[in-house]
Amino acid sequence: MEKTFAQEVEEGLSASPKFLSSKYHYDDEGSRIFQEIMAMPEYYLTNCELDIMKNRALEIYGATGFNTHFNIIELGAGDGAKTKEFLQNLLVENIDFTYVPIDISKEAIDILVKTMNQSLPNLKMNPQVGDYFEVMGKIEAKENCPNLVLFLGSNIGNFKSEWAVDLLQHMNEHMQSADKLLVGFDLMKNPNLIRNAYNDSQGITARFNMNVLTRINRELSGDFNLDTFDFYSFYNPENGDVKSYIYSLIEQDISIKETEKSFHFEKDECIWMELSKKYSLDGIEKLGADAGFQFKEHFLDSKGYFSDSLFTKG
Ligand code: AVI
Repeated sequence: MEKTFAQEVEEGLSASPKFLSSKYHYDDEGSRIFQEIMAMPEYYLTNCELDIMKNRALEIYGATGFNTHFNIIELGAGDGAKTKEFLQNLLVENIDFTYVPIDISKEAIDILVKTMNQSLPNLKMNPQVGDYFEVMGKIEAKENCPNLVLFLGSNIGNFKSEWAVDLLQHMNEHMQSADKLLVGFDLMKNPNLIRNAYNDSQGITARFNMNVLTRINRELSGDFNLDTFDFYSFYNPENGDVKSYIYSLIEQDISIKETEKSFHFEKDECIWMELSKKYSLDGIEKLGADAGFQFKEHFLDSKGYFSDSLFTKG
């Protein structure tokens, strides 16, 4: 059974070193702050993937080898801003497909459907609310057309290497032999550029992380005083890891009623909040192979900062 927020917080804050899962960044406020991050000049990822979606959509379609009706299944579609460009390029060419966005949040899907209806009125859509793999299984069982599965936005970078393999392996198990998978990876590059994307001058990324403490205070009756914590993030060019932390400015105990526990912090003690992994092209191919996929092609943006990489079920 999946652990509750309280259980995960208890486990993470009792551990040494302390950690919290980055999936808890995305309450309503966190999702709003993430939109701000995506609009920041330092956060180059958004524009790079948009560039690929705008300028390389037909090449990506060509590389799938599909020539009959197919589904485009998007895992965690978000606001769909980048995917919209991809879909539009295919629609202009009268390519026959159905867009199947899957998200765990009904609200996210409702907003997405509205946006797509407004901007792409000819788009065939089969929106789904639920767990990625349950929905994928249902669609694969019901329909016998091929699927292009999208997992964009460098979301894979938020998983430790072994979890990323697990996740892709799980996708592989839910795919048919003709299906293709397109995954968005942020690439290793100028280390200052990467560091600044997570250490922005306006402190928006710091706010994004601090919001998790506010969430613990609100949902689990915690007593974090945000003024006694700060944010730290660094990029390690040797392994591609961006690691983000919150650390305590003083020695203190934090009580969280829902866990019926308090947690001790030494001065300068850190909570690891997030991994945002950057990949090399070889690393991407190895990850795909480890998860049982056959690598097809990398599609990079014009600056060479980001890759949407295509795989076939091996
Ligand atoms: C969602 N994910 C790919 C973002 C990233 O780049 O790791 C989340 C994020 N965290 C800080 N800035 C953006």
